[in-house]
Amino acid sequence: MILVFGSINMDLVASVPAIPRPGETVLSPGYRTLFGGKGANQAVAAARMGGNVVMVGRVGADAFGDACRANLAANGVTTDYIATCAAPTGCAFITVDSAGENAITVASGANGMVDSDDLPENLPLGHETLAVMQMEVPLAESLATAARVRAAGGRVIWNLAPAPAGLGAADMHTILAATDILVVNEIEALMAAQALGDAPDFRTAARLLATQGRAVCVVTAGAEGAFFATPDGALHHAPAVPVTPVDTTGAGDTFVGVLASELASSSGLEQAVRRACAAASMACLARGAQDGMPTRQQLDAWTSR
Ligand code: RIB
Ligand code: NA
Repeated sequence: MILVFGSINMDLVASVPAIPRPGETVLSPGYRTLFGGKGANQAVAAARMGGNVVMVGRVGADAFGDACRANLAANGVTTDYIATCAAPTGCAFITVDSAGENAITVASGANGMVDSDDLPENLPLGHETLAVMQMEVPLAESLATAARVRAAGGRVIWNLAPAPAGLGAADMHTILAATDILVVNEIEALMAAQALGDAPDFRTAARLLATQGRAVCVVTAGAEGAFFATPDGALHHAPAVPVTPVDTTGAGDTFVGVLASELASSSGLEQAVRRACAAASMACLARGAQDGMPTRQQLDAWTSR
């Protein structure tokens, strides 16, 4: 079982020629309402690979919440442990520029009320459990959930996204101690490593995090693919499949979801990272976070071209 503990958002997406700078206003012809939230995106990516995926999170008692829950269910994600609460459903305001790059503001709403007790006592956790965490729900609740999963013999993938500004050494040590596989992008790698020591570049950062944290550290590096460092200090690389991106939103989440599904179906790390890279490239070819996420069949067909 893949247990995704995390955020559920509705994304309001506007295409712009260039992302506005502070004080600037840009015009967009309109906006689209698309399903998002890092947790929900990762759950959908894993479910499209055919995994048994359970999502724990919260939505508000509103139309966005109903639609988000229905979308997860339609993608085969178990939604029984998604609670409805008094705060509004999380909402992300996203601008995407002509190169497919984005800027995102998340209004957390119900995500801020996610509680580790939302995970019921009777949910069977064990060696087969692979939990997936991100940084859009309260850190203490994610840590408590990770501890429960590991106490039952399960593993934890921690996606440090978005990395909070001013991440301290104590928090970083606590997260690493609760984590089997840390997944970060290049910027998050530097932020995480700088909480612990000196890392001039993301490769050094990956090694530092893996050796000090005794966890695998995977760094997604866009067109360069992904790198992963193991606790012995070795650094490995998996290349990306070159694409011309339409919208990179959700690429990182696709990577995490597919990585989880590959590891849950007992692929080795190298192959899991390779497949996750290919799926993330595919996700960049469609607008929005979830539209381009491949099914297992689509990924198999694409990687055997
Ligand atoms: O990673 C992309 C996601 O980040 C978007 O779907 C948005 O909801 C934000 O949470
Ligand atoms: Na996309």
